[in-house]
Amino acid sequence: MELIFMVEDRVLGPTLLKNPVRKLVEPRNRVLKRIKKYIGDGMSVLDAGSGPGYYTEELLKAVGMSGTVAAVDPNPKSISELKKLNYGNLTAVVGSATDLKFEDNSFDFVFSNLLLCCVYNYKKALEEMIRVLKPNATSYISVSRSFINVKPGINADEWKEILSKFKVLETGEGITDRWAVVQKI
Ligand SMILES: C[S@@+](CC[C@H](N)C(=O)[O-])C[C@H]1O[C@@H](n2cnc3c(N)ncnc32)[C@H](O)[C@@H]1O
Repeated sequence: MELIFMVEDRVLGPTLLKNPVRKLVEPRNRVLKRIKKYIGDGMSVLDAGSGPGYYTEELLKAVGMSGTVAAVDPNPKSISELKKLNYGNLTAVVGSATDLKFEDNSFDFVFSNLLLCCVYNYKKALEEMIRVLKPNATSYISVSRSFINVKPGINADEWKEILSKFKVLETGEGITDRWAVVQKI
C-alpha cells in the first residue's frame, strides 16, 4: 500500500538542514569520501536540492577557483544563505530539479544528496539531472530509506529503477540512506 504523505515536494529550510546537531549525526565526511575521487579541479558541478549548502562549500573547495558550482533549491531562504558564501564561481538559484534552467550536457558532476526522496515527481527530476549531465559524466545520488511506502519517497523497487538508468560505479546502503555514484550512459 502506498501512503501519499504530500502531493507536493518536501521543501526544507536552513533551520533543519544547517544546524549544529546535523554535524554530529551526519558528518559531512561520510558523503565526501564517497565522491572524493570523482570531483576535481576545474569541474562544473550541479548541487541539485542544495538546501542552504551543507555540502555546497565542500563542492566549491573540490573544484577550486577554475571550477564552477551551481546550486538549485526551491527554498529562497536556503538560496539566500548560499549567496552569503560569496564565491565568484557559485551560482545559486531558486528553482526546481524538475525544471532545470541549464543547457543539455552542461555538467561534469551532479550531486544530489537526499533530493529525490523529497520530490513528488522524482522521475522528472531524474530525467532533468540526466539531461544536464555531460556524456559519460558522473553523479552522486542518495535517498533516505523509508520502511513504509510513503510519497514523496523512494522505495527499494524505485531505487533499483533509478539505478537502471545509469552505469553504476559504486553503491551502498546505510541504516538511513541508499547511495550510488553513477555514470551517464
Ligand atoms: C533532505 S534535503 C537535502 C538538502 C541538501 N542536499 C543537503 O544534503 O543538505 C532535500 C532538499 O531538497 C529540496 N527540494 C525539495 N523539492 C525540490 C525540488 N523539486 N527541486 C530541488 N530541490 C528540492 C528541499 O528544499 C531540501 O533543501
